[in-house]
Amino acid sequence: MTAAAIRVEGIEKSFKALHVLRGVDFEVAPGSIFALLGSNGAGKTTIVKILSTLLKADAGSAAVEGFDVATEPLKVRQSISLTGQFAAVDEVLSGKENLVLVAKLRHLKNPGEIADELLAQFSLTEAGSRKVASYSGGMRRRLDIAMSLIGNPQVIFLDEPTTGLDPEARLEVWQIVKNLAKQGTTVLLTTQYLDEAEQLADRIAILHEGRIIANGTLAELKQLLPPAKIEYVEKQPSLEDIFLALVGSGNTAAGTNAAGTAAAGNESVKDRS
Ligand SMILES: Nc1ncnc2c1ncn2[C@@H]1O[C@H](COP(=O)(O)OP(=O)(O)O)[C@@H](O)[C@H]1O
Ligand SMILES: [Mg+2]
Repeated sequence: MTAAAIRVEGIEKSFKALHVLRGVDFEVAPGSIFALLGSNGAGKTTIVKILSTLLKADAGSAAVEGFDVATEPLKVRQSISLTGQFAAVDEVLSGKENLVLVAKLRHLKNPGEIADELLAQFSLTEAGSRKVASYSGGMRRRLDIAMSLIGNPQVIFLDEPTTGLDPEARLEVWQIVKNLAKQGTTVLLTTQYLDEAEQLADRIAILHEGRIIANGTLAELKQLLPPAKIEYVEKQPSLEDIFLALVGSGNTAAGTNAAGTAAAGNESVKDRS
């Protein structure tokens, strides 16, 4: 049995009277992709901040690569990288200069070589010498993820990695995430997009009202819904159906977040009742 790359037990967090996390538990296996799925404001970023030692939990414990986030924050930071919801690249610098800067900050030898390799890996070689100010949203996000990979962290946190990206750029980021996991990196990503979790994740946990209300593989989550009546069985329930059934389809946040596809999900849930 391998130890979990990330272990979260009974984590609670309040902001004044707002009890955002009410006892969150989950584990992430090494080298897997784990999606934390939840509506806007569910507490996804709060969990990521606690796991990356930027925020202290009020109760419970969490460990990354076996290091406790509260008592061994430096060890945790050496094991992880965090890519936030908004790209953290320097616009005035070129793509290559951004990468070289991070490599130098991490005291690595051959920063130029590392930068060139990452530019190639992320299809940014041609754009590498251009100022980031001229990059598209997808290129910025790719550069942002490339920067977070410098130093080969074992665990990478991606907080809503594709929010605001066009469909093509989303697919590129998805491919990058899949490749990371193939190389053995553990990926915890947060998303409010059900299709993203469905496409990428080995396991999906749904965060709702401060707790993980479902956690499993897509196949396991599908079994949470009663089988469709025979006259309606034309397709398997999508993650969308499962999410809406668990969270309640009256939840406007979920409806808005999932945009067009939510309508289809609602329909199929209604079919079942
Ligand atoms: N520093 C803070 N101070 C007060 N409230 C906060 C703070 N950070 C987050 N919140 C609130 O906690 C809730 C969860 O936020 P967040 O973790 O960012 O959700 P998500 O990432 O799932 O959208 C939201 O209601 C948010 O407004
Ligand atoms: Mg967030």
